[in-house]
Amino acid sequence: MLRIINVAGARPNFVKIAPLIEEMRRRPKLIQPWLVHTGQHYDESMSDAFFDDLQIPRPDINLDIGSSSHAEQTARIMLAFERVVEDVRPDWVVVVGDVNTTLAASLVAVKLGVRVAHVEAGLRSRDRMMPEEINRLVTDAIADLLLTPSRDADENLLREGVAPAKIRFVGNVMIDALHRNLDRARGSQVLERFGLAPKQFAAMTLHRPSNVDDRQTFEGVIGALEAVTERAPLIFPVHPRTRRRIEEFGLDERLARMPNLILTEPLGYLDFLQLYSNSRLVLTDSGGIQEETTVLGIPCLTLRHNTERPITVTEGTNVVVGNDPEAIRREAMAALDGPARARRVPELWDGKTAPRIVDAVLEASS
Ligand code: UD1
Repeated sequence: MLRIINVAGARPNFVKIAPLIEEMRRRPKLIQPWLVHTGQHYDESMSDAFFDDLQIPRPDINLDIGSSSHAEQTARIMLAFERVVEDVRPDWVVVVGDVNTTLAASLVAVKLGVRVAHVEAGLRSRDRMMPEEINRLVTDAIADLLLTPSRDADENLLREGVAPAKIRFVGNVMIDALHRNLDRARGSQVLERFGLAPKQFAAMTLHRPSNVDDRQTFEGVIGALEAVTERAPLIFPVHPRTRRRIEEFGLDERLARMPNLILTEPLGYLDFLQLYSNSRLVLTDSGGIQEETTVLGIPCLTLRHNTERPITVTEGTNVVVGNDPEAIRREAMAALDGPARARRVPELWDGKTAPRIVDAVLEASS
């Protein structure tokens, strides 16, 4: 019987951990899974809503870490998680994605001699100003099993000198969650609630420090949105970090004056799935949304200068536009007016990644 601690802490982690926990629970003779929530995200809308929507069991342990600086948040997770690993004495710690929780839990486990499996290994933006890039590099350097979503991730790891035996190409587990929940999402009333007609609106998410922490950049993006909203309604669920910046920079009134802009609290998983899968265009700086729109064939503009998910550009619907207002405006208009781009669903983004991950962990244990 393998004792496995699964770790999640921030919103995108919950989407990845849900299919994994479900799959591990299907194999009770082989695996005893724990779920540890670090509490990196803690607002109802950023955490509990995802557990409910994705039908994730309550965490066995919540470390209640909350927000602070990167060093403090990472260190506090490490201190608290070390006690958990010492108590549970797992065979494996499974971490997902690239958030501070991922890095902190991996460091603790390897130093206690516990094997680490990293789900979503090998992605690289090659932008070390992104905190996530540092988390990816460090986690992949110390993890024992590197479970990759795409072939480019394998190549990145090999180029960094990772032993091929540690790497397993398993596909994209976020797409497992998408497949499992698409039908349930159709029951959401989110379009009616905001008065939106299918394929007649755009949706946006924005929370990266590189977009919202600098006033001039953030104001530039808002300027581009003014043009978009002249063409179509735009719904913008606002991340807590972004909400704080809007208040700090006094941008509330300017946003309120845009008649076709709908600002709302962060939405749950099912509401947001129903929303973007019915949208005409998505603007985002999130990682996961680039992938989800690719699978559903929804045009996506990524408001960043790079992406760690290049396959969403080469095979999917993603266009990396940066944060120059004129470029955003031009690409948004082209997407709203033009035909949808041809796309292909990337290899192994088939909704069956969780079983492949669990098989790989079992195989690596034998
Ligand atoms: C984190 C991840 C990012 C991921 C994002 C998804 C890191 C380095 N960043 O960014 O990769 O894309 O989650 O949402 O791990 N806050 C709340 N309530 C919450 C959570 C956060 O109010 O439940 C506010 C706090 O003011 C906090 C700020 O948001 O200081 C930032 O939270 P944090 O977890 O540090 O990073 P995110 O920007 O959410």
